[in-house]
Amino acid sequence: MTEQASRDAQNHLGKRFSGQVALITGASRGIGLGIAKRLQAEGAAVVLTARKPEALAEAVAQFPDGTALAIAGKSDNPEHRAEVFDTIAEKFGRLDVLVTNVGINPVYGPLIDIDLDAARKILDVNVIGTLAWVQEAVHHEKLGFRENKGRVVSISSVAGQVPSPGISFYGISKAAVSHLTKSLAVELGPDIRVNAVAPAVVKTNFATALYEGKEEEVASVYPAKRLGTPEDIAGAVAYLASSDADWITAQVLTADGGVITAGGNA
Ligand SMILES: NC(=O)c1ccc[n+]([C@@H]2O[C@H](COP(=O)([O-])OP(=O)(O)OC[C@H]3O[C@@H](n4cnc5c(N)ncnc54)[C@H](OP(=O)(O)O)[C@@H]3O)[C@@H](O)[C@H]2O)c1
Repeated sequence: MTEQASRDAQNHLGKRFSGQVALITGASRGIGLGIAKRLQAEGAAVVLTARKPEALAEAVAQFPDGTALAIAGKSDNPEHRAEVFDTIAEKFGRLDVLVTNVGINPVYGPLIDIDLDAARKILDVNVIGTLAWVQEAVHHEKLGFRENKGRVVSISSVAGQVPSPGISFYGISKAAVSHLTKSLAVELGPDIRVNAVAPAVVKTNFATALYEGKEEEVASVYPAKRLGTPEDIAGAVAYLASSDADWITAQVLTADGGVITAGGNA
């Protein structure tokens, strides 16, 4: 069978990730869990991370037996990352898809007053953390990430595209994630494709302050007239990670119900 024919056959079955292994960081709930469920439903074995082991165990229990594995730890901790990659190497002997989904925003308010230590922490987790996950996946000798034509998809944000008052420094970090995506794609091609998805407001714990009690009003400025769901983002990530997107790299796919084009922000 030619490579294209085998790709078509897999896509027809709706199992674009059969035989593949996907790591999704920050996946005990929200967007990360939605992505993990979608990639698993399309055939991948999935590895989920988050800080709290109990919530991770509850997340894994939602998957068919033996299809999901959880490893608890802080995304910006090098020892945690080493444990994750070594465990994947030992259990599966390969990595095909890396979704860097962890992102934090511990502070709200104007940039002019932002606590600089909080700003450094945001950069550490959102930017340096994202880079570190990619570096270590590529360099790990037993994962074959390059040989497997590995795919990286990072979760950026529309807050990195237009100023979003109140969450500006977070937006700055996400602008860096988007640029990191493009720069890594240029460095790592043709073996590895690197893309990102930039969502507007998605209904998760993380974003409650942005819509709780005012969802209809917030959604009214979205051409789609609704806010996003984890499934909306999962569909975009699955596409970019799949062979359907084989010629797509260095892109930041805005998944925002049209709000940025309509003049809104995050
Ligand atoms: N929701 C939105 O409107 C929106 C819009 C644009 C972009 N995003 C981006 O989407 C990504 C996911 O956000 P979400 O809305 O799904 O958030 P969420 O519902 O709060 O989920 C975050 C997940 O990441 C884990 N996590 C958080 N900090 C971590 C850390 N330092 N190390 C390891 N795991 C960590 C959490 O579990 P633990 O708490 O147990 O660690 C949880 O599993 C983030 O990068 C965010 O910036 C979200």
